[in-house]
Amino acid sequence: MAHIKKVLVIGATGHVGGHVVSQLAATDVEVRALARTPAAASMPTGVEVVQGDLTKPETLTRALDGVDAVHLTWPALPADAAKAVVEVIAEHARRIVLLSSGAVRDDVEEQDNPIGKAHALIEQPIRDSGLEWTFLRPYGFATNTLEWAPQIRTGNVVRGAYGAASMTLLHEADIAAVAVRALTSDEHIGARYELSGSARLSRVEQVAAIGAALGRPLTWEEITPAQARAQMDWLPAEFADYILGGLAAMVDAPGPRTSTVQEVTGVPARSYAKWAADHAADFA
Ligand SMILES: NC(=O)c1ccc[n+]([C@@H]2O[C@H](COP(=O)([O-])OP(=O)(O)OC[C@H]3O[C@@H](n4cnc5c(N)ncnc54)[C@H](OP(=O)(O)O)[C@@H]3O)[C@@H](O)[C@H]2O)c1
Repeated sequence: MAHIKKVLVIGATGHVGGHVVSQLAATDVEVRALARTPAAASMPTGVEVVQGDLTKPETLTRALDGVDAVHLTWPALPADAAKAVVEVIAEHARRIVLLSSGAVRDDVEEQDNPIGKAHALIEQPIRDSGLEWTFLRPYGFATNTLEWAPQIRTGNVVRGAYGAASMTLLHEADIAAVAVRALTSDEHIGARYELSGSARLSRVEQVAAIGAALGRPLTWEEITPAQARAQMDWLPAEFADYILGGLAAMVDAPGPRTSTVQEVTGVPARSYAKWAADHAADFA
């Protein structure tokens, strides 16, 4: 099959998309980055930045010109937007890698949770499009723990619920490394990759790892689920309930662990300690 020469990264300013851009830029593939506000997007040398907005699919046409493959981060838009976006992508590119979610279930008619639902809405038109596709279905991102940064910047205590909840958080660079393989090699067409970090850590242990990266001891202080829920009012209610319910469940049944990052990239997923060291400046 013909070589992938040019990739458009949608979500290029995001945690995962940013690494997709920088990792691709280190190869011989031409990289174009989509941004809603190009002036605010800082990209590696040689990466072309083009304006576009997924809520206005017609703005994607220019960005898609001459592109072979697309990396798509999906901001939970409604079904009609999903269909329109996939249509315009399929008119120009032949391959798509979707940053989906481990919350999507293949064993049900209707998704039973809001995050799975939001991603299934974009997976379906992609499956129907004739594009070569790969779905990345990660479990929790380590970047979720950036929510503790305001507390850590101003003290040595992190207050949260379900400190014993244990999970395998992913470094965004590992998700991107899988995406780059899927974008540039034919081997991953049609794959639905469930991705996780390599080791389980409780939230208490995650806070301790951030402390180790910063060189100062941090402690966990347990608050009630109701107190935690009250602090999540910036999220749509059903998302907040689902996330908090997930944490409660992971106290007794730790989050899933897969070896997919290693199988696809040849190296084990980065540890949470490595992520904390890479992000020390965000907490300092
Ligand atoms: N957090 C988790 O634990 C987790 C787990 C599994 C899956 N996921 C999924 O991962 C995705 C988030 O990935 P991330 O953390 O890398 O993203 P992120 O850092 O939140 O960045 C979001 C990106 O999407 C772009 N974007 C947002 N709305 C847009 C629009 N209307 N048109 C064009 N671009 C738009 C933003 O670009 P601008 O510069 O234009 O703002 C930005 O580049 C979500 O779909 C989430 O459901 C997350």
